[in-house]
Amino acid sequence: MVVPCGLAKESHALRFEEQIKSIFLRHCVRCHGGQTQEADLDLSNMPALLRGSADGDVLVAGQPDASPLFSLITAGEMPADRETEVTVAEVE
Ligand code: HEC
Repeated sequence: MVVPCGLAKESHALRFEEQIKSIFLRHCVRCHGGQTQEADLDLSNMPALLRGSADGDVLVAGQPDASPLFSLITAGEMPADRETEVTVAEVE
């Protein structure tokens, strides 16, 4: 079967967003979303996520290593309370 490129890409992006969302809902939105928005960061929806925090962008497109959001997770600094831990498998 031949899958038109544009279509394949789009569904991949959608799946990524779904995955990220479920990680954030589980680990992050109790402090970053809804009532509580630590550092002015709202991770409960994509547009808010792309708006970033009080300090600016938390995501750098195509550069996870340069994105504060990912470096804080991999450094083990977020979630701040260590109540839950994001596993590498979840991020990849
Ligand atoms: C227990 C509450 C709590 C949880 C859970 C939490 N955070 Fe945070 N987060 C904070 C607080 C408080 C700050 C601001 C102070 C600081 O920088 O330590 C912060 C700051 C940040 C910042 C830096 C914002 C900036 O520009 O200064 C990012 C990015 C971030 N959090 C992402 C996340 C992600 C992603 C998760 C889930 C994996 C998460 N946080 C879970 C409390 C939390």
